[in-house]
Amino acid sequence: MAATSLLRLCAAAALALLLLVGAAPLTEAYDPLDPTGNITIKWDITQWTADGYVAVVSINNYQKYRHIQAPGWHLGWAWTKKEVIWGMMGAQTIEQGDCSQFKGNIPHCCRRDPTTVDLLPGAPNGMQVGNCCKGGVLNSWVQDPVNAVASFQITVGRSGTTNRTVKAPKNFTLKAPGPGYTCGAAQKVKPPTKFISLDGRRTTQAHVTWDVICTYSQFVAQRGPACCVALSSFYNETIVDCPKCSCGCQNNITNPGSCVEVNSPYLASVVNGPGKGSSTPLVRCSPHMCPIKVHWHVKANYRDYWRVKITISNWNYRMNYSQWNLVVQHPNFDNVTTIFSFNYKALNPYGVINDTAMLWGLKYYNDLLMVAGPDGNVQSELLFRKDPSTFTFEKGWGFPRRIYFNGESCVMPQPDLYPWLPSSSPRLTKTAFLALAIVACATVAFLYNHLVLDKYCGKS
Ligand SMILES: *[C@@H]1O[C@H](CO)[C@@H](O)[C@H](O)[C@H]1NC(C)=O
Ligand SMILES: *[C@@H]1O[C@H](CO)[C@@H](O)[C@H](O)[C@H]1NC(C)=O
Ligand SMILES: *[C@@H]1O[C@H](CO)[C@@H](O)[C@H](O)[C@H]1NC(C)=O
Ligand SMILES: *[C@@H]1O[C@H](CO)[C@@H](O)[C@H](O)[C@H]1NC(C)=O
Ligand SMILES: *[C@@H]1O[C@H](CO)[C@@H](O)[C@H](O)[C@H]1NC(C)=O
Ligand SMILES: *[C@@H]1O[C@H](CO)[C@@H](O)[C@H](O)[C@H]1NC(C)=O
Ligand SMILES: *[C@@H]1O[C@H](CO)[C@@H](O)[C@H](O)[C@H]1NC(C)=O
Ligand SMILES: *[C@@H]1O[C@H](CO)[C@@H](O)[C@H](O)[C@H]1NC(C)=O
Repeated sequence: MAATSLLRLCAAAALALLLLVGAAPLTEAYDPLDPTGNITIKWDITQWTADGYVAVVSINNYQKYRHIQAPGWHLGWAWTKKEVIWGMMGAQTIEQGDCSQFKGNIPHCCRRDPTTVDLLPGAPNGMQVGNCCKGGVLNSWVQDPVNAVASFQITVGRSGTTNRTVKAPKNFTLKAPGPGYTCGAAQKVKPPTKFISLDGRRTTQAHVTWDVICTYSQFVAQRGPACCVALSSFYNETIVDCPKCSCGCQNNITNPGSCVEVNSPYLASVVNGPGKGSSTPLVRCSPHMCPIKVHWHVKANYRDYWRVKITISNWNYRMNYSQWNLVVQHPNFDNVTTIFSFNYKALNPYGVINDTAMLWGLKYYNDLLMVAGPDGNVQSELLFRKDPSTFTFEKGWGFPRRIYFNGESCVMPQPDLYPWLPSSSPRLTKTAFLALAIVACATVAFLYNHLVLDKYCGKS
């Protein structure tokens, strides 16, 4: 008994330490809420050919909540010998390169450092393989494991035709499509991958399997914050908005046109202009300048429960966020009781304490966060069961410790600005007294009405 509570204490201390470390900007490829998150590229040689091999390459997104959205992944590498790509299915290289020395059969790509992209949905049947052709979109592991993997087939020549003579490609790069991922060297995997036939009655195995592990870092992505948090509560009328300049500063002089006013006459032309659908956001002008704002409102306090309303609003005129997700850390998530209109999964990164939740939209209902405007928001309410020994609204306990949107951490207000709890023994002011009197009168009138109605009209 004592041992387990000691263990819990240690885990809590370790977590607190991690949170302190995590509070600094993420500077390395390590995410405390998804410590083993990575994208693993598997290169399985399934067949030897006259001058090389056929391989199935798969990109597996083992990140719990980070996904790759349109326009999708770009995978590159450098050949170590004189390899060429004779053909590909389910993907293509973006450049053929110089194949002038070939006569007759022309390779698909002769570059020393090919870059491949996924085919678009609806590619011709003869060009498809399983798990291909999703336009480079990779969903997150928790949200949609079936669509968290992409595969293509590649026929390589001049590579050597035995497991002793082939060499793994080097310098893998994974772009999403911008920077952010860093890939390690290819490692030979023993035993090699086994493939199970569709009917599950036969397995085949790769001749050689190489794994490449890629990890994400917001620092490598050279991306500033793209999301901020506003806080409010029923017990204090102050709404603490996103910190000023969370994602950039509004400055007409040095940076004109960096944002659009809501009622600007040019809005429609800018929104449907050349940058439509681009990954560079065009935000609505605001002091925070973030494309995404998350509002956490402590809505109600009941005897055994308390209730929070979460609103995610899109301030970006250029993007519909499909398959969005939110990761929220709050100590009461181990007793969350009901989550309305969002999907939920406990992330539980450290086994003992599950204070971290992943939330995402319901399919066809609110899994698409529409562009800035009247439809540009999604909402949910959460109901938490109170633990009498730890529950309090003091010191901002009701507010989240951290929030990620699509895997990027959101800028939180300074803790000393959080809405305060009114002092524990509030003196009745004149207005409060008046309000109380009105409520009391209304209650009496209501009860009276019901009693009279029940008596004279109830049982007819
Ligand atoms: C990559 O993710 C897989 C699946 O979660 C995990 O088994 C593996 O240990 C991870 N690799 C690294 C280097 O983190
Ligand atoms: C190549 O394959 C043979 C037979 O499967 C195996 O015995 C040998 O260890 C392999 N060599 C290497 C370098 O993997
Ligand atoms: C891989 O990258 C390193 C450093 O950028 C470079 O020195 C090396 O030549 C590259 N290897 C290949 C095969 O291109
Ligand atoms: C930028 O321009 C808008 C309207 O054109 C104005 O409301 C705002 O105050 C200006 N901001 C600065 C920093 O000048
Ligand atoms: C967002 O989605 C709506 C409805 O599907 C579509 O009309 C609009 O063009 C999309 N906007 C962008 C920027 O992709
Ligand atoms: C906390 O985690 C455990 C095991 O990981 C899980 O069974 C439990 O449902 C989680 N609690 C909540 C409230 O999600
Ligand atoms: C969650 O509920 C259980 C059982 O009521 C309680 O032991 C635990 O302390 C609660 N945790 C929190 C953080 O409220
Ligand atoms: C509400 O919170 C703010 C801090 O954000 C504080 O300045 C103010 O006094 C609080 N109001 C009440 C009624 O406690």
